[in-house]
Amino acid sequence: MKITVRLIVSLVLAVAMVTAAFSFYQVDREKSRMASDLELRTSILADSLRGSVARLVKEDLSARLKWIVERFGNRKRLEGVAVFDMEGNIITVTPELKPGIPQPFPEAVKTMLDNSPSSRLMDINGKETYIYVLPLMANGKINGAMALFNDASYIDLRLKEIWKTNLIRFLIYTMLIVLITLVVVRWSITGPIARIAQWMREVRTDKDKTGHLAHQCPRGDILASLINEATHMAKSLATARAKAEEAAKLSFKAASLWSANRLKEHMRAELGGKKLFLVSNREPYMHTKTGHEVRCIVPAGGLVTALDPVMRICDGLWLAHGGGDADRETVDAFDKVRVPPEDPAYTLRRVWLSKEEEKGYYYGFSNEGMWPLCHITHTRPVFRLEDWVYYQKVNEKFAEALLKEIADQESPLVLIQDYHLALLPLLVKEKRPDARVALFWHIPWPNPEAFGICPWQQEILMGMLGADLVGFHIQYHCNNFLDTVDRFLESKTDWEQFSVSRSGHTTLVKSFPISVGFENFTDRETARQENGPLRERLFRETGVHARLLGVGVDRIDYTKGIPERFRAIERFLDKHPEFVGEFTFVELGAPSRTHIKKYHDLMAEVEETVESVNWRFQTKQWRPILFLKAHHSHEEISRFYRAADICMVTSLHDGMNLVAKEFVSARDDEDGVLILSQFAGASRELTDALIINPYDIEEMADAIYRSLLMEPREKSERMARMRQVVRENNIYRWAADLITAAARLRPSDGGE
Ligand code: G6P
Repeated sequence: MKITVRLIVSLVLAVAMVTAAFSFYQVDREKSRMASDLELRTSILADSLRGSVARLVKEDLSARLKWIVERFGNRKRLEGVAVFDMEGNIITVTPELKPGIPQPFPEAVKTMLDNSPSSRLMDINGKETYIYVLPLMANGKINGAMALFNDASYIDLRLKEIWKTNLIRFLIYTMLIVLITLVVVRWSITGPIARIAQWMREVRTDKDKTGHLAHQCPRGDILASLINEATHMAKSLATARAKAEEAAKLSFKAASLWSANRLKEHMRAELGGKKLFLVSNREPYMHTKTGHEVRCIVPAGGLVTALDPVMRICDGLWLAHGGGDADRETVDAFDKVRVPPEDPAYTLRRVWLSKEEEKGYYYGFSNEGMWPLCHITHTRPVFRLEDWVYYQKVNEKFAEALLKEIADQESPLVLIQDYHLALLPLLVKEKRPDARVALFWHIPWPNPEAFGICPWQQEILMGMLGADLVGFHIQYHCNNFLDTVDRFLESKTDWEQFSVSRSGHTTLVKSFPISVGFENFTDRETARQENGPLRERLFRETGVHARLLGVGVDRIDYTKGIPERFRAIERFLDKHPEFVGEFTFVELGAPSRTHIKKYHDLMAEVEETVESVNWRFQTKQWRPILFLKAHHSHEEISRFYRAADICMVTSLHDGMNLVAKEFVSARDDEDGVLILSQFAGASRELTDALIINPYDIEEMADAIYRSLLMEPREKSERMARMRQVVRENNIYRWAADLITAAARLRPSDGGE
């Protein structure tokens, strides 16, 4: 608005000045013109009278003189005539004028002295009067003066009229100027500016989510160049915002990504410098003897793969069964050894079991009873009383060892792992109610009907509910667990909080999908060195002659669907013989629990299946399946992951299955296809795998075919998405979630 007022005031002032100047000029001109006109007329009249009046004065003919004066005094605008003697006194005058004329009349005296006519304007009787005075001459001598009085007030009126007209004109101009200025300014300046300002506000604020607005600057002719610049600026702003948002997203992702370091810091804050106590049956490092040589191996299995990186960060104590034949030789006087051997980061405390204990507790109750009970694979669980007795005994043994370790710890945080130690939580809590105890169940939890066949169902459930927190991989297993508790125990189940309250203690039941370290499987340096010829090198090392490679990595366990997988490969070659000689599947199978008949038989079945498939299709140079029955290190497995076209995870039932996540983590080239069982917990997260039913051989065969023919673009898109999932939901996040949930439970939470 200010600019409009300023503009209007300036324009009005300018117009006023011009109008005033012109008016002055006009008035001046008009005044001069009228004055000279009056003078001319008066002088002509005066000249015509002069001779006769001079004569009458000389002859002193007053009556005649008076008559003339009166006669002339009636002319238009002529007010009157006066005749003066040599002293300037009136001889005769038009009567109306007489009172207004001073005597002697100075003008008359002056004109006689000068002997020339003079004129001036004078107020006579309150009226502007033009006086023309001239000397009277008779016989060449001045004998008086004559004055003609003309009404000059009409000049003033005329001049006033000029002023008035010009003032009205000025007012009209002013109104027009104000109006035009307002319209033009609004139309061409303030309007477009307001629209641009509004547009800029929208671009600046969050209204411009899409960035399209940046290209839609409002038009405005006189602001064209400004608009041009503003459009550029808006586009830059939109680009900058997009970049900033992207950067924010990335930094948010980076901030939300869990890494070893972040977990370390988090643990420090969460545990306030306290140690973490982890208990499992399987130890993370096992010392074995070959002749006199002692070797340290990392046992196969998801539990160890997942938890070792966590313990390396937390520097706590891991209590586990010392199952290696050189384990006793490698511990100190307190049955402890710092691990990993190459870079000690935490303490492994070994618990020793007798052969009978191992047989009853581990092979018997845990792996012939609980394992098949929880995995629905149509393998009958076997429950023997003596196994149950050993199971209780060994759980007590673990409890005793643990209680010793936590004796001097205030509210220690204890993480108990898996189905081998279902009774341990209650045993610990009974002695140390201040301890915060979490139990993580790495395998599925069946429905109540399936669990109901366990003769010691209540004891198992009560033992587990001693924990403050019970964790499963997926919500479905949590629900099954709560259903089971509901069915078999007197307790209060809270389906909103997912908790069970019993005898004044509450247990929270929550899902924590376990994972891998992600980066640990992305060995960029080795990958770079081996890029390209890696597959050929592996083929050379293993004596394989093929073009395409499939890989499977398993503990040889009946839950993994290994024979089913081989039958699917057989069916695939049946249906697509063009792949004979082209595709080889390498199975990296680690023997497991071989003292159990089922496992023994399974090994035989797997070997037989390999034999029969190979026998059907193999050529001189080539065979479809290579079964590498051995314990393989992570490094060896990683090379196969990176070189494979497909990885097959065909579990008949699996809590999570970390092979699937390891394969995805290893594929930083975003190549390779994962074929994944719908019965593995991982299938809930890795939805970009080709999800199959391992009981459906036909479907699996088709999935192999589809994987091998999949367009590179689809492969990389699927792999990129799966990698994102595993990158974000890595083991550090799992550990942080689980430990945080457990650490934040206070013993008081246990009360109802
Ligand atoms: C599964 C279980 C683990 C176990 C692993 C290896 O992943 O959940 O508790 O350690 O198999 O089995 P093993 O009997 O050799 O310890």
